[in-house]
Amino acid sequence: MSDKIEQVKIEANAELEKVTDEATLRELEIRYLGKKGTVASLMKFMRDIPNEEKPLFGKKVNDLKQELQHEFDTRGAVLRNKTLMAEVQDPFFDPTLPSMDEPVGNLHPLTVITEEIEAIFRTMGFVIPDYPEAESEFFNFEALNIPGDHPARDMQDTFWLKDGNLLRTHTSPGQIRTMQQLKPPYRAIFPGKVYRYEALDASHEHTFHQVEGLVVDKNVSVGNLIHSMKVLIEEIFQRKVNIRLRPGYFPFVEPGFELDMECSVCQGKGCSVCKRTGWVELLPCGLVHPNVLRAGGLDPDEWSGWAFGLGLSRLVMMKYEIDDIRHIMGGDLRFLDQFQ
Ligand code: DAH
Repeated sequence: MSDKIEQVKIEANAELEKVTDEATLRELEIRYLGKKGTVASLMKFMRDIPNEEKPLFGKKVNDLKQELQHEFDTRGAVLRNKTLMAEVQDPFFDPTLPSMDEPVGNLHPLTVITEEIEAIFRTMGFVIPDYPEAESEFFNFEALNIPGDHPARDMQDTFWLKDGNLLRTHTSPGQIRTMQQLKPPYRAIFPGKVYRYEALDASHEHTFHQVEGLVVDKNVSVGNLIHSMKVLIEEIFQRKVNIRLRPGYFPFVEPGFELDMECSVCQGKGCSVCKRTGWVELLPCGLVHPNVLRAGGLDPDEWSGWAFGLGLSRLVMMKYEIDDIRHIMGGDLRFLDQFQ
């Protein structure tokens, strides 16, 4: 048996002598020392060996393995050195050239804020269901208490698809989908892209981002809603933030509110972002309308809820003091590189 081991050793060394490049060396190494290599397969002779000789045989195979590994490593180092020397001695090699500057990417500010918001809400027990961007009229409008002849349809100019569906104009359809899928009570947020057929300016984009929130439980209150919104905003801005609450009309909530925050681009003085008012509409919200609960398959006498629709793009503008919404989805690297 020892002959076999010796024979493998001689063969391996002979082949090693002949190797002149690293790729061949690697192949040879796998052939001898790989899991199914020549050395490993020596172990199959173990069963023909008398018991008392087995430990010695095992040791010899192991020694061979280590010895060969050492030979391969040494040979590898020699070959690598040779390759390097060849490069250095190339007449065109210029060691004074500056090194290549690898550009480093970074997360888009929208992604950063979305992840922050998700983390804040997860700690408050919210789930984050998925739902479609191309929606039916039912989920985007009707179920949200906006029938076909309702004037509120004009508030959201819509991209209609050829098949009669549409690109969701807000994240609110997520509310209905969730009501139909989950068993209450629950808390959920739905971040996502929304689309509107808009005239573009510093504060209007055809594609922008929102985060919808929905809580369904027994006896939920406006106080509960306002508290959660304050936690959210102050966590995001990491400071006390001036906010104000006004009554607001949205067909899917009753009562409905507009939560404004002081414009952080101009600190309330007035600029193009806040239309010179010093305040930015950030967060419409309210108690879920009974018709909406019904459309979601819930009995409004038993269940109640609150909801909000946070304008994410606007929040990013406030947080990073960006004065034109068109920068956000514009894809200009000079803009994006500033968020390293
Ligand atoms: N979906 C509304 C929009 O995009 C925003 C909104 C308002 C969402 C009030 C809500 C809400 O959940 O309660 O204009």
